[in-house]
Amino acid sequence: MKSEVPEKPDASGHLPLHVAVIMDGNGRWAKKRMLNRVKGHEKGADAVRMIVRTSREIGIRHLTLFAFSTENWQRPKTEIKALMELLKRFLRSEKQEMIDNNIRLNIIGEMEKLPADVADNLRQTMAETDGNDAMQLNLALSYGGRSEIAMACAAIARKVKNGEADITAITPDFFATHLYTADIPDPDLLIRTSGEYRISNFLLWQIAYSELFITPTLWPDFSREEYFGILAEYKNRERRFGRVDD
Ligand code: FPP
Repeated sequence: MKSEVPEKPDASGHLPLHVAVIMDGNGRWAKKRMLNRVKGHEKGADAVRMIVRTSREIGIRHLTLFAFSTENWQRPKTEIKALMELLKRFLRSEKQEMIDNNIRLNIIGEMEKLPADVADNLRQTMAETDGNDAMQLNLALSYGGRSEIAMACAAIARKVKNGEADITAITPDFFATHLYTADIPDPDLLIRTSGEYRISNFLLWQIAYSELFITPTLWPDFSREEYFGILAEYKNRERRFGRVDD
């Protein structure tokens, strides 16, 4: 009988360079089991470990995970605290693995708004993984696409005001160099779990031509097999970037 599990994608081509993920559904996963939402986030952190390991193993160069949005500050204080603790625990448990596996940690978002101990931990891990170049793990923390675009506009306006840039220099490429993702290629593939057909203020500028995959699976249940299945389907999608075929 033919196996139902998709084969491991082959790194020789058609593998996205950059995969971005909106990890949604931790709360619903917990609710379905009559558990506290925090339990859903804890199980979600295991899925984070899985996707980081798997992505590195198959040769993805950039993995961007939406871990905390600018809107998430409006959640109950206890949930925010638990998420920050989980992040510190993740850094403690994964730092050595990132070093051993040549993974560079990068943060996109308002790092200055994070609790000081979390920001210190992140800075420390970023410094220790700085020279790594097999894969970059971009964690989006206190991240919002609109804020990012507004921040880029302000930076450009400042340059124009100070005579460091001319208005005619403001092209899309120039604009993109003022985003958190200045040194990161745009995502080829954006995955969203938990079946919502929304972008939720994630990478608004960068996903102009990304292939979108929405799965009903709740993030804590997202598996390596499902990831391989999505990568196999990605391979079959034709990307034309607004052009026509030859
Ligand atoms: C969405 O689920 C998920 C989040 C707001 C946070 C994502 C966090 C993790 C996956 C765990 C920790 C992360 C790291 C990097 C260690 P939700 O709470 O919005 O779910 P719901 O829509 O079902 O309520």
